[in-house]
Amino acid sequence: MATVEETLVLVKPDGVSRNLTGEILRRIESKGYQLVDVKLVQASRELLAKHYEEHLGKPFYEPLVEFMESGAIVAFRIAGERVIEGFRSIAGTTDPTTAAPGTIRGDLGRDWGLAVQQNLVHGSDSSESAARELALWFD
Ligand code: RTP
Ligand code: MG
Repeated sequence: MATVEETLVLVKPDGVSRNLTGEILRRIESKGYQLVDVKLVQASRELLAKHYEEHLGKPFYEPLVEFMESGAIVAFRIAGERVIEGFRSIAGTTDPTTAAPGTIRGDLGRDWGLAVQQNLVHGSDSSESAARELALWFD
């Protein structure tokens, strides 16, 4: 039997500055998932270092943290059966150039020639990540 899960979705600074927060939430709600909590955050380096600890040492780490510090982020706590994989599916793959049309990244994102891909959204990738990330952003 399926159980209700929760996931963390972040509208990254490119999504907020391009006024796409509402469009992104519309897609989440249209899919049938429930908005449980929402927050506008100017993320600190400390928060981002914890959030992205798995990427420490990768070539895109510093550009990624600088990008995520560059403007406001909207955090959503979203609930539903299999919402963790379901949101990753509607977000699309990491590279917005090749993300499938119909997905958030495929429809709304593109490559801007920068050191890190600006791809509009983050979604937790496992139940362990979701629990860890929700505690970081909402508790
Ligand atoms: P996210 O964590 O944001 O939901 O994205 P993801 O799982 O699809 O991608 P991940 O591998 O976790 O990478 C985190 C974020 O780093 C940026 N990135 N840029 N080669 C690049 O330019 C590159 N690789 C990763 C993206 O913003 C990606 O979402
Ligand atoms: Mg990831």
